[in-house]
Amino acid sequence: MLVTEPGEADLFAAAYRVWRQAVRCGTWDPAAVDLSRDRDDLRRLPEAMRVYVERFCATFRNAEENVARRFCPWVMAVPPIWPQAVFSAQLMDEFKHADFFERYFAEVFGNRSFESGQMHNPIHDSLAARECRLFEVLNGDSEERELRLVEAVTHYHALIEGVQANAGYQIAHDLFARKGLLPGLSEGFRRIRQDEGRHVGFGLRLLRFYIEKDRRYGLRIREMFEEYWPLIRARYGQPMEVNGRTYPPPEEERGVERLAFFYHRRLSGLFG
Ligand SMILES: [Fe+2]
Ligand SMILES: [Fe+2]
Repeated sequence: MLVTEPGEADLFAAAYRVWRQAVRCGTWDPAAVDLSRDRDDLRRLPEAMRVYVERFCATFRNAEENVARRFCPWVMAVPPIWPQAVFSAQLMDEFKHADFFERYFAEVFGNRSFESGQMHNPIHDSLAARECRLFEVLNGDSEERELRLVEAVTHYHALIEGVQANAGYQIAHDLFARKGLLPGLSEGFRRIRQDEGRHVGFGLRLLRFYIEKDRRYGLRIREMFEEYWPLIRARYGQPMEVNGRTYPPPEEERGVERLAFFYHRRLSGLFG
């Protein structure tokens, strides 16, 4: 493999290790997760908790489908071949995650749909524009392509996955997995979280390479973290309206606190 820049050999070696890990450990089957106890558990939950869990999962379902559908230009923009191999494995992972939630809704929740207003998630809603910008520069000037890639990985890996989704996994753990409830859903989240650990880990590794390469990339990443914080925080800590009733978030959520924790953790993972 042709190495042309300082730090590139280390980046490619790291990418190869993550790729091997994805091949060895990333091929679980959403159809094999045992969901047989979940429907009974769900029926026994207090109403406010049941509503919250369903809505929480509906947002994850939307998010997984959204990232799976949009990820192709990220795969095309990242340097070949091992970073590209890692992103290719991630593309399949995201479809696996979407597959798990599709199945869970069909077999456990029933396929109720939510009004689009209830599913508003601004950091995800802006991913379509990010996808378009990345597409536009795929065959263009290499500096422009690099900047767009840095922005796209910051948006997707550092903020959506590294902050918002990670806060969600902790909430899932405290709401039901830790209590031994909804074992099928807990197992799905456990598997997804493992995959996401690889995605976030490599995304941050890639960003650190670009931060070292050119300080302007670091400035742009910091700027995006500031710009997106209000959008990220809107995700949790909100009451929800379902069928004309308002439900406050459960006490265990502590969503904004968890989001802030991961936000600072990702920043220090990038800049020390
Ligand atoms: Fe995912
Ligand atoms: Fe992911």
